[in-house]
Amino acid sequence: MLRAGLIGWRGMVGSVLLQRMREESDFAGLDSVFFTTSNVGGQAPPEAAGAPLQDAFDLKALASCDVLLSCQGGDYTKKVYGGLRSAGWDGYWIDAASTLRMADDAVIILDPVNRDVIDRALASGVKTFAGGNCTVSLMLMAMAGLFREGLVEWISSMTYQAASGAGAAKMLELMQQMDRLTAAAKTAPQDALQVEKAVTAEQRSAAMPTAEFGAPLAGSLLAWIDSEMPGGQTREEWKGEVETNKILGTAKTIPVDGICVRIGTLRCHSQGLTVKLTRDVPMSDIESILASSTPWTKVVPNNKEATIRDLTPTAVTGTLTVPVGRLHKLRLGPDYLGAFTVGDQLLWGAAEPLRRMLRILRDRLG
Ligand SMILES: NC(=O)c1ccc[n+]([C@@H]2O[C@H](COP(=O)([O-])OP(=O)(O)OC[C@H]3O[C@@H](n4cnc5c(N)ncnc54)[C@H](OP(=O)(O)O)[C@@H]3O)[C@@H](O)[C@H]2O)c1
Repeated sequence: MLRAGLIGWRGMVGSVLLQRMREESDFAGLDSVFFTTSNVGGQAPPEAAGAPLQDAFDLKALASCDVLLSCQGGDYTKKVYGGLRSAGWDGYWIDAASTLRMADDAVIILDPVNRDVIDRALASGVKTFAGGNCTVSLMLMAMAGLFREGLVEWISSMTYQAASGAGAAKMLELMQQMDRLTAAAKTAPQDALQVEKAVTAEQRSAAMPTAEFGAPLAGSLLAWIDSEMPGGQTREEWKGEVETNKILGTAKTIPVDGICVRIGTLRCHSQGLTVKLTRDVPMSDIESILASSTPWTKVVPNNKEATIRDLTPTAVTGTLTVPVGRLHKLRLGPDYLGAFTVGDQLLWGAAEPLRRMLRILRDRLG
């Protein structure tokens, strides 16, 4: 039986991972070991069959596993991964963090889109697998059909990213900010202009909690995610091109760029896309190619009723469906496609590719 060690299982991504693994009966056929960085000897989830939590820094305990799956974060990966490998551990490492994504001996996993890349890697002995950046994975879940057909010359993504992508503490801060705005609005509920004035004053007040985001997000937005990169990009924007091309295993780089923006939604990322097609393709063909991207991709008709019903974070949250809509040729020319897509970034953007990779290994190595 495959011995699988889980690290980071109680964090935000880890909690969604555990929930999905239970829903899909993934624990069957696994000897599951749970690790902790904060509560060694504490009580583990029932799937540990009574064994206590193990020390996530104990290399010997980690090395007893055939597979290690970490949602603990990049700092943990940096501390542990190199030491484990240099001590001779030859098992499979699956990671939610970005630390190892661009390493030559690692594959970025999104199996509905790149199962061929994963299978080739497994056959050639690759043992390190990393989940992709949430925005990149969700864009590919929507647009995989067009990439597969060689129809994408370049793509520009303008994002509307949820607070959860930055961790649980940031999600909580957004909700605290919302509470304060609601309380401010109640001071003059009958007068829209007075409400606007009171809310803006509250947003700008020193009392607004901003320790996590550095600025008010509720009722506002932040057009900067992650650190600065050369050329004016942020690191989040930089990941778009490098990760898309690595996931797809492209021979020639397909340019991907845009502006990444944090907005006040909770767990769904949205993206407005401009696609430069390699040729003029009729809209009906584009729609059927997109519908075949993955079994979870859903084309939403380009009308108001369907768009406000199906193409929103509210409609998508907690589901695996990745709707893509607002599909139309842009006035820039017949080979320019406009599209809008939404996805739950804790599912396809984080936990789901990891659990599916563990499942691939379980089915392969049993
Ligand atoms: N958030 C996302 O949407 C997302 C998307 C893609 C990738 N990722 C990556 O996934 C990794 C994990 O992200 P995350 O957002 O899941 O991190 P997180 O919620 O901060 O959890 C990480 C760890 O923090 C510890 N922790 C401390 N206090 C906690 C508390 N009150 N509740 C739960 N856990 C607590 C837990 O470790 P112990 O149990 O050992 O104490 C937990 O495993 C990161 O590398 C991140 O970049 C995140």
